[in-house]
Formats: sequence, structure tokens, C-alpha cells
Amino acid sequence: MTQTKQSIETSLITASTRGDYEQKTGAVNVPIYLSSTFDQEHFDSFGPYDYSRSGNPTRDALEKTIAELEAGTRGFAFSSGIAAIASALLTLNAGDHLVVTSEVYGGTYRFVTQVLTKYGITHTFADFTNLQEVETAIQPNTKVLYAETPANPLLGITDIRGIVSIAKKHGLLTFVDNTFMTPLYQRPLDLGVDVVLHSATKFLGGHSDIIAGLAVTKDEELGKQIYFMQNSMGAILGAHDSFSLIQGIKTLNARLTQSSQSALKIASYLDHHELVENVYYPGLPSHPGYDIHASQASNAGAVLSFTLPNRELTKAFVEHVQIPIFAVSLGGVESILSYPVTMSHAAIPKEERDKRGITEGLLRFSVGLENVDDLIADFEQAFHIAKKQITVSK
Ligand SMILES: Cc1ncc(COP(=O)(O)O)c(C=O)c1O
Repeated sequence: MTQTKQSIETSLITASTRGDYEQKTGAVNVPIYLSSTFDQEHFDSFGPYDYSRSGNPTRDALEKTIAELEAGTRGFAFSSGIAAIASALLTLNAGDHLVVTSEVYGGTYRFVTQVLTKYGITHTFADFTNLQEVETAIQPNTKVLYAETPANPLLGITDIRGIVSIAKKHGLLTFVDNTFMTPLYQRPLDLGVDVVLHSATKFLGGHSDIIAGLAVTKDEELGKQIYFMQNSMGAILGAHDSFSLIQGIKTLNARLTQSSQSALKIASYLDHHELVENVYYPGLPSHPGYDIHASQASNAGAVLSFTLPNRELTKAFVEHVQIPIFAVSLGGVESILSYPVTMSHAAIPKEERDKRGITEGLLRFSVGLENVDDLIADFEQAFHIAKKQITVSK
């Protein structure tokens, strides 16, 4: 049967069973193939699978799904987001250089500054909201521009078309971490990006139950290089977790649509609150990246950050909030309040964090599926107590 062109919302549901699984059995879910090895019928020609590090049918269904959703040709599933990022970056060679967004997830910062440097791959950090600065950071041995947009934790926006055009001018590749948007809202490969990366632990998985990472490419040669790294490093996603991630992806639209609507309401509420100094959310017209974001993504997503005047007030607020969990991570059905200084960005030295605006009053909020008015009422009571406590103790 020829496949008619589908919208991404439909592909979220149908992509994983487009293999031969449903044709053989009618199963609506991909089977979990718990087999490390595969019996070979012929002495000198092997079947499609030989060993699950190199390929597993359940992981394959997931990899085909993410490739379809991101409009790529090859998808790769890893044991974590950072494993996907590391494996993609290790396609570089000793002597190569990359330009990395200064606003970057702490684990990526650690990998670039403390691991890649050991293998002779150097870097320069640049403010990716300033295209001139990105271009100035390019050296004769630069091979990759590495972006995150919206970025973690201040939701800075990179003009994807802008960096792709700089990369093409200088013969470079562009890598984009698309964790905050997911392919539902932003498809960087369509804008000319070469490698899309995900911490699928977050919205794609959606239930705070698995750690997983994904990489997607359009170019076949680049796909082969990432496959070589995936097989050589061996940081693959297991069959059980591949299954869970496929199930998570099916409900992405329902979850992310509701969470993003709530995030906009919460961002507007925080924007008018007397105790809140700054709100960072690309869905607010006051966000400096609002127009660029709207030109390359269809929604502002479900993560926002905000700053309170000092650590004392921040601590008191966190201690009195009742509904969200206070934890590392984002993208779950439960709302997650995080403190980047000691959590996601703890790997970045204090001096560098300060330069990047990751201050002691900064909180990141990933909006879940609770009733949004309950969340706002909870914030309100926590702000009220925190303010009283801090005033009394002064
Ligand atoms: C934007 C971003 N990229 C990558 C990662 C790393 O992913 P993982 O924790 O799945 O290794 C994270 C984790 O917080 C993240 O927020």
C-alpha cells in the first residue's frame, strides 16, 4: 500500500509500526525483542540482525520512528542523551575544532571541555544569539557549529537558518540539540541542520522512567559515521527502554500541547509577580528571541526559567512549593522545579556560570500535566510564605 503524506501528529502514532511487525501478527505495539544474538541461516551471508549492539528489531523500530519524525534518513538510539551527543561529537578527529553555544547543558559542557580535549578536539564557546560572534569564533580547523535552541537553562534562541548559512559558507556541519522542542515543534533538518540530538529522557519519553538519547541525520555518509560510533562505543538503548520510548512518543502531542498551554499561562503569571525579577520563556513577546523562535518552531514548549532576587528567597520558595517535584530533569508528566546551579549546570565552574547568567536566584520549571490553576495557586502560596519568612528574618 502506498503511504499518503501524513501530519506529524499522525506519524507519532503510526511510525513505529510501519515495519513488518504488524503485517506478520497484527500487533499494534512493537514486540520487545529480548535477544542479544540472532541465529544465522547461512554460513556466509547473515540476516538483518546478528548481535543487538549492532542492531535490534525493537531499537530499529524506534530509530526508524525518530528518523521519520525529524524528516531524516537515519536515526540512532543511545543509552542517554549525553551518549548520543558524545557519539556524534566523536565523529570528529584529533586536531578538529568546534564552536559551541555558551548556553549549553552542563553535561555537554563537561564532555566538550574535559573529554574531547583529551583527544585533541578543541572548542570555542560563543554566544549563539549573536551570529557575528559565532562567525568570529570559526578557525581554519573548525568542523562543527553546535547549538541548543531553546537552550538550557535560560531558553536562549539560536537563529537556526542563520547558523546553517554561516556553516555552509565555511564548509562546516551544524549539530542542534532539539530536546526542548522535540520534532513536534521544531525540525532542524528541514532548516539545513546536519545532526539533530535529543535527550529522549525528557519530553519524548515523557514519564520520567527511562534515560535515553537519540541522534538523527539526513546525509547518508554522516549516518554511516554515527552508526560506526554507536556500534564502536556501544552506548545503545536496550530493547525494553526502546519499547518504553516508542510508547512515550505516541502520546507526545497530547502531553506537550497541554503542558505548553500551561507554560504560557504560568510564564504570564510569573511575569507580573512582584518577587520575580526575570522570566525566560520564548512564548512571551518580551523574550529577545521571540520572533526568531516563532519563525523556526511552532510552539514555545513547556520549559521556562525565572529569577528571584537571591538564594534565600529561592530556597524558601522551593521549600514551600507542594505540587512540583524538586529534581533534576524535565519533560515528565509531573511538573519539575530545578535549581540549575546545583543540578543541570553544576558541572560548569561558578565563574563561568555567573558569566552565563546562571545565578543563585535562577529556577527552571518544566510544566507537567497537573491542572494549571492548581500550579499557579501553589506558586502563589509559596511566594507568600517565602516573602513573609524572609522579611521576618531580616
Ligand atoms: C538540553 C539537554 N541536552 C542533553 C541532556 C543530556 O541528556 P541525558 O540526561 O539523557 O543524558 C540534557 C539533560 O538534562 C538536556 O537538558
